[in-house]
Amino acid sequence: MFPRFLVLALLASAALADDYGSSTASPVVPPPQPGPVYLQLAPMLGHVGPTEARIWVKATGAAKLAVRVSERADMDGAREIAGPEIKAASDFTGVVVVPELKARTTYFYTVLLDGQPALARPWPSFTTAPADGAKGRLRFAFGSCAGKEPWLDAATWADLEARTSVDLVLQLGDNHYANTTDPAKQRAAFIAHRSHAGFRALFQHTPLYAVWDDHDFGVNDSDGTQKGKEDSLRTFSEFFANPAAGEPDNSGVYFKFSRGDVDFFLLDDRYHRSPDKVPDDGTKTQLGAKQLAWLKRELLASKATLRVIACGGEWQGDSVADSWKSYAREEQEIFDFLAEHGIKNVLLLSGDRHFTAAYHVRGRFIEVTSGPLGSPGAKSRPSPEMFAYHDGGRFFSIYDIDTAATPPAVALEIWQTSIGLVEKRAFTWEQVTGGAKIEPRLPGSSTSHTESQQPKTKP
Ligand SMILES: [Fe+2]
Repeated sequence: MFPRFLVLALLASAALADDYGSSTASPVVPPPQPGPVYLQLAPMLGHVGPTEARIWVKATGAAKLAVRVSERADMDGAREIAGPEIKAASDFTGVVVVPELKARTTYFYTVLLDGQPALARPWPSFTTAPADGAKGRLRFAFGSCAGKEPWLDAATWADLEARTSVDLVLQLGDNHYANTTDPAKQRAAFIAHRSHAGFRALFQHTPLYAVWDDHDFGVNDSDGTQKGKEDSLRTFSEFFANPAAGEPDNSGVYFKFSRGDVDFFLLDDRYHRSPDKVPDDGTKTQLGAKQLAWLKRELLASKATLRVIACGGEWQGDSVADSWKSYAREEQEIFDFLAEHGIKNVLLLSGDRHFTAAYHVRGRFIEVTSGPLGSPGAKSRPSPEMFAYHDGGRFFSIYDIDTAATPPAVALEIWQTSIGLVEKRAFTWEQVTGGAKIEPRLPGSSTSHTESQQPKTKP
């Protein structure tokens, strides 16, 4: 007979080795209760443009979805917009696209399930974007790496909701750590991360846009060879309300949108990715040929004062293998394209590293890698292009931009969860456009920096 302590130890290690979705989702999220269908999660805003808004919901069962929208807080004169039948096949998620809205206008809304009100007063609201091309102020937050356990990012969302004011949020991958393409486990992870008060409150009134990285696409450091990636794409599309996903003839989660005078290009760094380790024979790619062609085409067509290009992995030259570093030829092709066409007004965003840092990439482009929203922290050694660095906590970043100023104003805020604003830095327009250098930070010059060896693998 086994000694009792050995049995307990075996049971404990089995629990630790259990898959993420099944082991951690249930204590956080009560299972749907029997009875009439209700909203399991708060409504969440996806893309909000100048004339349309996407409202995402997750219910407990099948229902006909609709929303009512009004410019008045008492919903007087509300317009009703029919949405889809939400069904088990999409885990009872659905999106209503609200059309014919006025730019820069606040609308109140409520959700109907089978014609019955699914929310109580006070009604949530959203504000539509300025007209495309309109100059003005824009504040957007961004970060990555939500954490393996679904409560790890709860305080970050609560801080974003309570302590800041932003027009939109970008989630740049590792939005959960299901580490599988299994739809049931990915869905459970999404639901668990979205069940916290801060997340629910924030995204009832703030648009959320997202792309994935390896852990919410498939396994660690996964790529285009990942089995079941079609399932991941379907689940991702069920749980976000981005303006688009790839192109009609090319799968993926990448998309472009505009907010006033700023254009955003969010990249899919996994679906078409060559394995990190294969040698580059001239075809090695992170984006795939069609996405790369799309990016070039859209960058060329953009007339915005600022172009923001976001990707899960880092652009800077001294990163880990699971980044643009392993796709140097393709990255160079993008930088050459920008130079050839005189496109200088580019901000690069990234995530993945579990610390927050800023780099002046090639002395031309400001890159901010932002996070972790919830994951445990990691450290970096100082890199040649690095000019800001924070570790030892959870972080998100905010760009505060005013394209109506002459020259346009660009400031970066780095926020540490539960602490507050830990760094604010205004850039000159020459720095943003690569005409002036940004001094790299000196080793040990930041209180939060700890010198250490670059990890061989990323977290
Ligand atoms: Fe991560």
